[in-house]
Amino acid sequence: MTDTSIHGEWSSKFGFIIAATGSAVGLGNIWKFPYMAGEYGGGAFVIFYLLCVALLGLPIMMAEVLLGKRGKLSPINSMRKITQNAQVSSRWSIIGWLGVLTGFLILSYYSVIAGWALAYIPRLALGTFSSINELPPDQVLQFVKTIFSNLISDPERLLAWHSLFMGATVIVIAYGVEAGLEKSLRFMMPALFALLFILLGYSMVNGDFMAGFHFMFDIDFHRFFYPHCTPTACEFNGEAPLAAMGQAFFTLSLGMGAIMVYGAYLPKHAKIGEITAIVVIADTLAALLAGLIIFPIVFSNGLDPNQGVGLVFHTLPIAFGKMLGGSIFGALFFLLLVLAAWSSAISIIEPIVAWLIESKKMSRLSAALLCGGIAWMVGFVTILSFNLWQEVKLLPMIPLLADKTPFDLIDFFTSNVMLPVGGLLIALFVGWVLPARIVSEELEMTENQLKYRFFRFLLRFIAPLGIGLVLLNLVGIL
Ligand code: PHE
Repeated sequence: MTDTSIHGEWSSKFGFIIAATGSAVGLGNIWKFPYMAGEYGGGAFVIFYLLCVALLGLPIMMAEVLLGKRGKLSPINSMRKITQNAQVSSRWSIIGWLGVLTGFLILSYYSVIAGWALAYIPRLALGTFSSINELPPDQVLQFVKTIFSNLISDPERLLAWHSLFMGATVIVIAYGVEAGLEKSLRFMMPALFALLFILLGYSMVNGDFMAGFHFMFDIDFHRFFYPHCTPTACEFNGEAPLAAMGQAFFTLSLGMGAIMVYGAYLPKHAKIGEITAIVVIADTLAALLAGLIIFPIVFSNGLDPNQGVGLVFHTLPIAFGKMLGGSIFGALFFLLLVLAAWSSAISIIEPIVAWLIESKKMSRLSAALLCGGIAWMVGFVTILSFNLWQEVKLLPMIPLLADKTPFDLIDFFTSNVMLPVGGLLIALFVGWVLPARIVSEELEMTENQLKYRFFRFLLRFIAPLGIGLVLLNLVGIL
């Protein structure tokens, strides 16, 4: 097999760690994790999510990286090459194709939501939220909610921010991965973590930290299965385990080739087990920090944790509005959130761009423009789902999906079905189909080492069983 990727290579294993952490840490950690934990009642969701990250996420990330490192090409072509060389069915390249479809769908809405974060930078910098200090406490929430809903109810504004974000993504992709990306991420990621810790300090001092902590870590299965209880009615909802597993895949960028393509740019000798563990830990830390920042603010301000996609856009402006120097910190925070989202967005289309370059002989620029253009257009569906199409429910006959907007459906199917199915196929392929010799060689482990055997056990049995059960549960509740 060729030794280096035609697309270039990370300067060292740190380049990979930085880039893969850049891919993993994004809106999934700071926007999605808190609102999902809020929606599904906290504790049990968080624990289930952590279990999925450790038992399914880590081994599948290792598997993806080793496939990329072995093939050195885009996921579609890596899979083709690996299956040819190992003389197994080339049908497994479906993993790459499925990833292409999933990538377009995820990027289409990811860019719209990143646009919201972008729109919040000037709002914070200009001190819009400082005026909450003059409001009576019972009007604060209304104030932040109005600012958020004014934004998302205006399709033209959303389109402008979405276009800006997509344009920025296309530019970096066009420049190539290591040139712009690796260098800028080296500063960005540590800065993001530093700000998360500063905000954690704020929440500990000013928020109701213990209430937030208990909400996140007290295991309460009732809240997990009956998340939407009102004082008069309680309805069972089997969606929570599925959502927790889907979130584990989404947050780790697994199941669609993003991590695989970054693995293709790895230099020859890199200990996959070690470097993936670092990425998984950093990503989990970012999500837990986000939760520990947001929930104390939720409880000290009497907000409802179950308020869906607007959660961070309601809570953080309150914190920044009240904080000394809040407009600077706030603007900086949303800027970093945008940068984190940017580094994730890049990894979502890199697999497709790399394939177009290899197989369609396109230039990097045209491939980036084409992919960005398609995802930009699909993004209209998400934009409209928050305003003109708010009432459009495409699957009213399925109770679980009856009140989902087109955006909700894209989000639901990509995270909860397509990524886990991609992950399942990867686990089956590396666990059962690929010769053990190749697996151990790429992992730089010997076949009788305990950690190798543990990895293989997780990949062959635990991951397929876990994903299979949760997906079956979905079929059951549909
Ligand atoms: N992991 C990213 C996040 O948490 C999203 C992502 C999903 C990136 C799939 C790449 C592939 O925001």
